[in-house]
Formats: sequence, structure tokens, C-alpha cells
Amino acid sequence: MLLPVPWVHRVPTPANRRFARACAALEEAIGGAIRHYRRAEEERDDLLSRIIAGDPASGRRPDDREVRDQVMSILAAGVETTATLLTWTFHLLARNPEAERRLWVEVDAVLAGRPASFDDLARLPYAKRVLTEVLRLYPPTWMLSRVTVADTTIAGTTLPRGADVVISPYALQRDPTVFPDPDTFDPDRWLPERVTGRQKQAFLAFGAGRRRCMGELFGMAEATIALATISGTWNLRPARPGPLRPVPRFLLVPAAQPMLPHRRHPGGEDHG
Ligand code: HEM
Repeated sequence: MLLPVPWVHRVPTPANRRFARACAALEEAIGGAIRHYRRAEEERDDLLSRIIAGDPASGRRPDDREVRDQVMSILAAGVETTATLLTWTFHLLARNPEAERRLWVEVDAVLAGRPASFDDLARLPYAKRVLTEVLRLYPPTWMLSRVTVADTTIAGTTLPRGADVVISPYALQRDPTVFPDPDTFDPDRWLPERVTGRQKQAFLAFGAGRRRCMGELFGMAEATIALATISGTWNLRPARPGPLRPVPRFLLVPAAQPMLPHRRHPGGEDHG
């Protein structure tokens, strides 16, 4: 969409060659994992085993190509998004001590030092509000795109059929008419009694409509479990003080800024 001339991608520039090499390495890694799992023929309690096992109801087992496509989708759409969300979360918590303290109170009451699991999710509502508020301020998918299928008028502007439309969740989620005091990190704006219909509609961190993220529940569960487990033991602090600078790459990531883990309960049992 950004470079709509297909042949440009085939010119052997250093960047295109790097890209082709990276694709080949990724294909090889995925193919290798699938071959390894098929050869070992052991049932493991993980996602790849489940994809390979197929649908128990119909007995249909996907072929190598379909397993590869599923793994590629999960890797491309589901790994860096969730990792980026967690990165922003720890940076924002380090800068918002009151929110961090409340998270620790919740995590300590629910987990008492053990790692979180899926069954804890319902008892970690503050952790979920923290993650939702981070997604509002720094949506990893900061740009969505659509193509109009018919002439369309939006807010007085007419777009012809076939137009590329770029939508920015980052801008919409900081609209002060929808989110008062939009630059403030306030997880409680997602309390059930405070959240408004317009707020829900303007929240596009997982997209909207029929292409909405199909991994939303999976990603939020993963991020909540990781956030609660890490926060139960560790206090993450930026290695060097400095402003948080968003960099718009394919995802919206913070400019590299290492964090150092400090044990929250010195002398406590090691759960790391
Ligand atoms: C916090 C984590 C995540 C964020 C912020 C996120 C964000 C998004 C967004 C904004 C879209 C819509 C793109 C569009 O409308 O153009 C999307 C689609 C998608 N996401 Fe996620 N995602 C996350 C986690 C995941 C995970 C964990 C998976 C898989 C395990 C996943 C799989 C997908 C897939 C397959 C689509 C395409 C759906 C379709 O086009 O029908 N995502 N995601």
C-alpha cells in the first residue's frame, strides 16, 4: 500500500535481499519445527501440537502447507504485538508509581508469589485495565488500512471506490472529546461503571469489524498472565532515566531503552 509499484520489491537492493534472506530463514525454521514435531509423534500440550492434531470433531488433519500458514499467522500477528504491549506496559508502570502500587496489591493478593495461570484471569481486573489503557496510549498496531469497495462519503469527504484509507488508532484513542485528559495514564477509565459507548467504539487497538483481531482474547490472556507473573517478583526500572519515545515502525515500539529487573521481595523465595 505504501509502495504500490510491485516490481520495486523485486529489485535486488540490499534491503530486498535482506528481506528475502529473512523470509527464507523463517520458512526453514517453521518447516524444521513441523518436521521435528511430525517425526517425534509425541503429544505435547502446546499450540503447534494442537494445530498439527487438527479438529478432533471432524478428524480432519491439516497438511504441512496449512500448518505452516497457521504458524506464520501466529508468528507474524501474535508474537511481536503482545511483546510490544508488555514492553510499553513496564515502561508506563515505571513512570506511574500509583498504578504500579495498585497492580502489586492485586497481584500479591491473588498470586502470593506463585506464577499466574489461566484460571487467575478473572481475579486480575486491574491488570487487565492497565493493559487496556496501555493499548489506548500506545497501540502497537498504530495504523490500519482499508480499501473502499464503493464511492463513500465520510465526514463530508467523498472517497472514490478503490481508495486506500489509512486509519490511526493512535490519534483516535487520544481524542479529548472521547477520552478526557487523553495523555494521562488512567487505567480506571476502563472501570465498567466509567466506560462509555463512544470510548469502546473509539478503541481500535484490535481493529474493528470483520477483520478485527482474531487473537484478541489469546493475546490479552497471555499479556495478563505475563504481567502478573513478572510483577509478582520483579520491579522493572529503566536502566537510564529519559523520556519515552515512540518509534512508528510496522508496530509502534519504544525507542530502545533497556530496563533492569529488581527483586521486589529481597531475600524472598526465587520464583524467577
Ligand atoms: C496485544 C496483542 C495484539 C494486538 C494489539 C493485535 C492487533 C491486531 C489488529 C489491530 C488487527 C486488525 C488489523 C486490521 O484491521 O487491519 C489484528 C488482526 C489479526 N490478529 Fe491480532 N493483535 C494482537 C494479538 C494477536 C495474537 C496473539 C494473534 C494470534 C495468536 C493475533 C492474530 C491476528 C490475526 C490472524 C489477525 C487477522 C484477522 C483477519 O484479518 O481476519 N493477534 N490484530
